[in-house]
Amino acid sequence: MEVVIVAGPDQAGELVGGAVAALVSTKPDAVLGLATGSTPLAVYRDLARRHGAGELSLARARAFLLDEYVGLPTGHPQSYRSFIAHELEAHVDFASAAVQGPDVHADDLLAACDAYEAAIRAAGGVDLQLLGIGTDGHIGFNEPGSSLASRTRIKTLTDQTRRDNARFFATLDEVPRHVVTQGVGTILEARHLVLLASGAAKAGAVAAAVEGPVTAMVPGSALQLHPHATVVVDEPAASRLRLAGYYRETWSHKPPWQGL
Ligand code: F6R
Repeated sequence: MEVVIVAGPDQAGELVGGAVAALVSTKPDAVLGLATGSTPLAVYRDLARRHGAGELSLARARAFLLDEYVGLPTGHPQSYRSFIAHELEAHVDFASAAVQGPDVHADDLLAACDAYEAAIRAAGGVDLQLLGIGTDGHIGFNEPGSSLASRTRIKTLTDQTRRDNARFFATLDEVPRHVVTQGVGTILEARHLVLLASGAAKAGAVAAAVEGPVTAMVPGSALQLHPHATVVVDEPAASRLRLAGYYRETWSHKPPWQGL
């Protein structure tokens, strides 16, 4: 695992946006895995800027959402499908239907979860998966206790996650209790995992995921099992990392050709 400590979200966005651009320049039909929430916004802004500057085209790329709320009507502004449409798709040139999320309106949700797994497989798997991390250590919406082998399925959000996400809704009661999320096992099949975190509220979760034991109680710790995992954190989010000095030293001496 590589840990990169950056000054703030803008630097994280530029670094990770650069990794996406580098991937797409060698593989124009790359498959991206998209996270939602506050953290990846800097990356999406960077991708929009690169596209606007004529440096990046996602016209042949495809993308899969990590997760989606269950119970919000189609088109609800806080649905993750709407979030990605507004924050990313509106600013780049994905082909229509190139971005998919799990069908949370299907009569048979279990079948829809299986179909989502099949769609990811049929696309050749995810090349680069963006991830945030919850204050309770979740990735996707794999809450503590999620099997490290789990697949796309329905999960119940913890109270902590619902409270964390209440800032996007008028009241806590409006935050859905259920989601469909790619499983930890699904996420681990992506070829490159890039987890971003910013702010002191994430410091405990980042330290547990990066330097703690691999445990289902901290789903983010599953990144330790992955052969190509990159963790990009700002100073406050890195503040509880024991090896922060080593990560800085490693990054500052990394040969530029190596990329993320
Ligand atoms: C969202 C997702 C979640 C978030 C996490 C952090 O698609 O999968 O794991 O990444 O809850 O959310 P923010 O970035 O809003 O702090």
